[in-house]
Amino acid sequence: MGMITIPREAASQGHAENQARLWCQQMEEGNILFFPQTPIALPEEDLHFLLTLEQNSSGLHKNLAYKPQLDRISGAEMKGADAAAGERLHHILREYSQHVTAFLASFLSPYQSRWQLDYGSFRPQEEQGRNLPLRRRNDLMHTDAFPTRPSRGARILRFFNNLHPTKTRDWITGEPFRRLAPQFAPQHIALPREQSTLTRVTARAACGMGLGWAIPALKRSPYDDFMMRFHNFLKENAAYQAQGKREAWFFPPGSSWMVYTDMVPHAVLAGQFALEQTYLVAPEAMVAPEHSPLAVLEGMTGERLV
Ligand SMILES: [Fe+2]
Repeated sequence: MGMITIPREAASQGHAENQARLWCQQMEEGNILFFPQTPIALPEEDLHFLLTLEQNSSGLHKNLAYKPQLDRISGAEMKGADAAAGERLHHILREYSQHVTAFLASFLSPYQSRWQLDYGSFRPQEEQGRNLPLRRRNDLMHTDAFPTRPSRGARILRFFNNLHPTKTRDWITGEPFRRLAPQFAPQHIALPREQSTLTRVTARAACGMGLGWAIPALKRSPYDDFMMRFHNFLKENAAYQAQGKREAWFFPPGSSWMVYTDMVPHAVLAGQFALEQTYLVAPEAMVAPEHSPLAVLEGMTGERLV
C-alpha cells in the first residue's frame, strides 16, 4: 500500500468518470490520495487567523470540532472579547467543511455523495510530545472507530490540510485491515458474533426511528463493537507498535491528503495546525467493497455483523 499523488490539473479541472472510479478503488484498497497543493486553499487572512488563534484567545480547547449537522463548534468556549474570534472560527470551519464536500462530490463522483457528513476539526496543537491517555493517543498506530458514533458498516473517510507555514505533518501507516485482522483475530482478539435476529430487528427499528440514542446497547452493531476493540487492541499492543510493518509520510505545508482511516492503521508523530473533515461513506457506495473491514470480518466469521 502506498500513496497516490494527484496532479494539480486533475484536482482542479475535472476528470473522466473511469479515472474517478480508479481513485475510489485505490483508496478503498488502502492507499492515501495525496494532493501536493491542496485543492481547498484557505484565504490568506483566515489562515493567519487560525495560526495565531491560540496566542490571541484564552477559551480555546485542544480539539476544536465542527458539527455540520448542528452547525456548531465545540471546544471553543470563547466569551467576552473572544466571542468574535469564536464566531470567526465557526465561520471558517463551516466554509472549510462546505468546500471539501463540494470538491469531493465531484472528485469522488462514483460515490454520488452517498455519505453522511461527520465532524470537522481544527487541530492547533503540536502533535509531538502530547500527553494524552493511551487510548486517545494519536502517535500510536490505530484504525479509527468512534466510541459514541457507531458507523454500522459505513466507512470512515478523512480529508486533511496541513496549514503549518513551514513544518511537515508526519505520519506512519501500516498494512491495511484485510491483512492485519487475520494476524490477530481470533487468536489475540475475539471475532464479532452475529446479533440475534430479535436484537437486530429492534436495533434497526430504533435507529430508523431516530431512537438509537435511547438504547445505547442496541446502537452499536457487532461490527462497531469489534472495530472499537480493534482500535484499543492495536494501541495497547506494544509488539505491534514496535515491530508492525510501517511506512513514513511527510505531508508538506499547503498539501492535502485523504484516506480510509478505519482500514489503514495510522499514527501522527509530529505536526501542528491541521484542518480535517470526516465522512461516513455508505457501504453501498464502495466500488471495491471486498476490501472493507465489514466484508473482511463477515468473510472471517461467516456471519452478518450489522
Ligand atoms: Fe486516527
